[in-house]
Amino acid sequence: MTDKKSGQKTKAEPRQSGNPVMDKIVSLCKRRGFIFPSSEIYGGLNGCWDYGPLGVDLLKNIKDQWWNAMTFREDVEGLDASILMHPRVWEASGHVENFTDPMVDCKECKARFRADQITGLACGSRAYKGRMAEKCQAEGKFTAPRRFNLMFKTFLGPVEESGSVVYLRPETAQGIFVNFLNVQVSSRQKVPFGIAQIGKAFRNEINTKNFLFRTREFEQMEMQFFVQPGQDEQWFGYWKEQRMEWFHALGLRKEKLRYHRHEADSLAHYAKDAFDIEYEFPFGWGEIEGIHNRTDFDLSRHEEFSGKTLTYYDDANKNRFRPYIIETSAGASRSFMAFLIDAYHEEEAPTADGKTETRTVMKFHPRLAPIKAAIFPLVNRDGMPEIARGIVTELRSHFRVFYDEGGAVGRRYRRQDEIGTPFCITVDSQTAADRTVTVRERDSMHQERVAIEGLVHYLRKGIEGA
Ligand code: GAP
Repeated sequence: MTDKKSGQKTKAEPRQSGNPVMDKIVSLCKRRGFIFPSSEIYGGLNGCWDYGPLGVDLLKNIKDQWWNAMTFREDVEGLDASILMHPRVWEASGHVENFTDPMVDCKECKARFRADQITGLACGSRAYKGRMAEKCQAEGKFTAPRRFNLMFKTFLGPVEESGSVVYLRPETAQGIFVNFLNVQVSSRQKVPFGIAQIGKAFRNEINTKNFLFRTREFEQMEMQFFVQPGQDEQWFGYWKEQRMEWFHALGLRKEKLRYHRHEADSLAHYAKDAFDIEYEFPFGWGEIEGIHNRTDFDLSRHEEFSGKTLTYYDDANKNRFRPYIIETSAGASRSFMAFLIDAYHEEEAPTADGKTETRTVMKFHPRLAPIKAAIFPLVNRDGMPEIARGIVTELRSHFRVFYDEGGAVGRRYRRQDEIGTPFCITVDSQTAADRTVTVRERDSMHQERVAIEGLVHYLRKGIEGA
């Protein structure tokens, strides 16, 4: 759907992406409550998505893992800066001048495209159904590219005039740079040290695409590490390794991850060196995190624009310097999508009557799984539901768990497999006699008997130790 006044697309992307795996995952996300199109009852809003009951937990678990990996260290502090910042911040950062993409219009179908990313996009006109944008371009139907600034503008206060323009931040990093001295002094940190932040960022992308990959509102997990000039290359190498290791430790398959080093001519205006961590999505390799050596670009620009000195005095060496910054910048939303895709498996599994069926199983790392355990009474009589409810109450103070008494146990297992619950606990006829239950592990489908009293310890070991 196109807004008549602005000519902008408002409706969410069509459900069918043309990629069968992506289509299955998008459908599962909607059906099971991971992701919904934003404002769906109004037809959706292009480039915006809502996290449903399971999605919000998966996202929170990813962010918690990142936050803990960063701030449980002695040399990294946390921060939560405001989304709206002084407009001069974005002049100093270079975003007002440089944060642009080349935009073209198709004179024939009136669609708007990012000039360097038209591959695989459909032409916007109904009259040209099935035709691709590349053909419009080849036939000379595109206008000359114009620079389009991706920052969303709004106004501070009640008067909508140019003097009150502020921007929705397009990255969380600037909130860290401008707070460098506040954090360093208040927490008495010594360089080298870092500041970590998780938060929303907004970019008015010309073309959103591939589900959560390129959206207009998303979350970032950024850490800026302040180092002495001359030690920057060593720290850059260190953080590059650390960040890849974080994705491995949370179960992303190694063969689906790679580094992509930026050539000198493709480096961002602030970077001396940069690596992306890329994941192989069903539609191809795509960046999920960038690691940049930003030199002292940011602090020197903010010094220049604010008039405040942003240097550090090294007491031990009696030396004052402006720190270099090593940035690790991950997309929480993009990482969410990588974890979701990597977890998705379809495999043959035995049924109760000795046949096989295809099961869909989300093999999330147990720490990321939204629900850690499901508890079932084998049948709804003989005191089994009451015992199962008692177990739910006990476990709920430790983990997010789910009670299900509906349908055959095999069906209940499949429902949990599909949302990635690592453990299913069944109360059966033996439970009342010896206070043990069966615990079935999601990936191996192996079952073992565990004492009810030992369940918290058993699950914790399975979640934390995995
Ligand atoms: N501070 C540096 C910075 O923002 P970036 O490469 O523009 O660098 C960092 O963004 C990460 O943010 C990307 O690796 C990606 O994971 C995520 N990201 C960027 N634009 C996005 C978008 N439109 N939708 C979803 N995630 C996005």
